[in-house]
Amino acid sequence: MRKIGILTGGGDCPGLNAAIRGVVYAAEKFGFSCIGILEGWKGMIEKNTMVLRKEDVAYIIFEGGTILGTSRTNPFKKEENVKKVLDNFKSLDLYALVAIGGEDTLGVATRFYEDYKMNVVGVPKTMDNDLNATDYTFGFDTAVTRAMEAAKALIDTGRSHRRVMVFEVMGRHAGWVALFTAIASASDYVCLPEKKVDPNELIKKVKDAYSRKKFALVVVSEAVEMIDEEKNLGSGEVDQFGHTILKERGVGERIAKFIEKNTGIETRHAVIGHMQRGGEPTLFDRILATRVGIKAAELVRDGDFGKMAALCGNEIKAVPLKEATGQLKLVDNKWIEIMDILF
Ligand code: F6P
Repeated sequence: MRKIGILTGGGDCPGLNAAIRGVVYAAEKFGFSCIGILEGWKGMIEKNTMVLRKEDVAYIIFEGGTILGTSRTNPFKKEENVKKVLDNFKSLDLYALVAIGGEDTLGVATRFYEDYKMNVVGVPKTMDNDLNATDYTFGFDTAVTRAMEAAKALIDTGRSHRRVMVFEVMGRHAGWVALFTAIASASDYVCLPEKKVDPNELIKKVKDAYSRKKFALVVVSEAVEMIDEEKNLGSGEVDQFGHTILKERGVGERIAKFIEKNTGIETRHAVIGHMQRGGEPTLFDRILATRVGIKAAELVRDGDFGKMAALCGNEIKAVPLKEATGQLKLVDNKWIEIMDILF
């Protein structure tokens, strides 16, 4: 029986287990067996695996996170690790590898496919929704739903105390999470990394909203830059893929202080952080993750390697892995126009 390895890499997100389940169900139907590679590409370097049968994954569709564990390991950081991945692919007797990940994990998959002809297919995931060549990634709907619920709680307390509330959400270098949270939560202003924040406009909008209803909600994406404050940004640390680690940024807090100082209105901030990345996936994410997982197994069955299962409209299609990586999908002008209408 031919064997498929499945790995999940990068930041976890709700729907990963549903995707693993989709691959395993389809793979078994097509006559393959599956093993899980633990902690992303690290598991391929260290040959760390677990058995994955239909009965092992039947109920994981309910669970957030990933039963395989994850890491942000980049085997291309060290030549010897590239060799280990290739050797372990052989010694594990793998026919193909399904890599479930975002830009970085799939970027590694692309290199193994292009440079070493590895039988690899990709499944896109990220709560940031910033992956190219797919309309949506699973994880995003759940993350925004969780943030939307938290925003409603902030509205309740903020309105009661006649305060301005500033709500910082994740999303790394893309503003999708902040924008969708802000729209869905009737926010008064939103700060995205794609549009430099104009402090004068921010203060004016907050004052206008507050004068109408004695309350204002401002949603802030974690990677936002305000004019004149670039020097404060970033912890200075980068991960194995060269991305700034955003753990100490606290831009929501800085914006809250800025608002309070310039409006004289009592202001509080809240950071949802990793809470928005865990927990049960929404219906949308369960179905999308299942569909892309199944498609990945179909690509393996058909020998259509170097591809990724993507959502295009309402169809799941195969797109070249290369198209998904290399450039992030950021909030574009069409959405900035909607933003200008709503906030
Ligand atoms: O890329 C997904 C993401 O959740 C980003 O929104 C966030 O900036 C980052 O991961 C956080 O990473 P970590 O879990 O390593 O702190």
